[in-house]
This record gives sequence, structure tokens and C-alpha cells, in this order.
Amino acid sequence: MLRAVLIAATLLAVPAAAIAQNSAIIKERQANFKALGDAAKPTGAMLKGEADFDLAAVKNAIKVFQEKAALQPKLFPDDSKEGEKTEALPVIWENKADFEERFVKLAAAAKAADASITDADTFEAEWPKVMGNCGGCHKKYRKPKD
Ligand code: HEC
Repeated sequence: MLRAVLIAATLLAVPAAAIAQNSAIIKERQANFKALGDAAKPTGAMLKGEADFDLAAVKNAIKVFQEKAALQPKLFPDDSKEGEKTEALPVIWENKADFEERFVKLAAAAKAADASITDADTFEAEWPKVMGNCGGCHKKYRKPKD
């Protein structure tokens, strides 16, 4: 009887420990994505004509995109599919190579934009190419908002 209780307790303890272990990684990747969103925000307002062109904000976004894109691929280990209200879709783990490649492409697009964007006109022409990497990945790999 005691043995049965101990086994049951062990079985219960395993998933709890697994979730606890992953929550830090899930939170870390969500914080990195949030930083991408925060950096992108002023640039979105500029594209919509709701704010004046600000090269410093664009350069900041470029820097944040490159830094965070380099960190993200390793924050999706196999044991981080659930928890912390993750919006990551299971299909990520079925297409890991494509998913990781998209972060490389985001960083490359940001780097290219760093060289090509010098004023409002070049910003309008080039910036949507960078931002397309965000939406493209979300469409396939992030839960749609209800
Ligand atoms: C390679 C795929 C990919 C790319 C590229 C990508 N995202 Fe995401 N993004 C995701 C996934 C997956 C999630 C859900 C993460 C989770 O909840 O675990 C997410 C979540 C987010 C969130 C919500 C974060 C939170 O508070 O939980 C924001 C904001 C965001 N992304 C912004 C961006 C922006 C801005 C870009 C482009 C600069 C971008 N993302 C590029 C896949 C991507």
C-alpha cells in the first residue's frame, strides 16, 4: 500500500517538475519576443504615418531584432511545448529546421535594412521586408488570437 502510494506520488511529481523546469525557458523566449514587439512598435506607427520618421528608433529595432533572433532558436527545446500559456504551436517541433531558419532570415533582413535605410523613403521601401518575417512566422507557428 505504502509502496503504491509512493509510486503514485512519484508519477505525479514527474510532470510537475518538467513543467517547472520549462517555464523559465518559455518565459525567456516570450520576454525576447516582447522586446521585438516593443522595438517594432514605433516603426509600425511610422509606417502608418502616425509618427514622424525617426532613424534612431529604426536603428534600435534593427539592433534588437538581430540580438534576439540569435537567442531564440535554442529556447524551443522539446520539453517546452506546453506551459506559461505558450502561444507556440506544436507544428514548430515538426518543422524545426524551417522554424530556426526564419530567425536567421529575420536577422539577415535586419542587417540588410541597416545598410539600406537612411531616410523616410528608404524606410518605407525596405522596412516591410523586415517586418514580413514576423508575420510570416506567426502565421504558421503562433496560435492565432481569438
Ligand atoms: C521564427 C518564428 C518567429 C519570428 C521570426 C517572430 N516571431 Fe514573434 N512569436 C513566435 C512564436 C512561436 C511566439 C509564441 C511564443 C510563446 O508564447 O511561447 C511569438 C510571440 C510573439 C509575441 C508575444 C510575446 C509575449 O508577450 O508572450 C510578440 C509581441 C512577437 N512574437 C513579436 C514579434 C516581432 C515584432 C517579430 C519580428 C521582428 C517576431 N515576433 C518574429 C514566432 C516568431
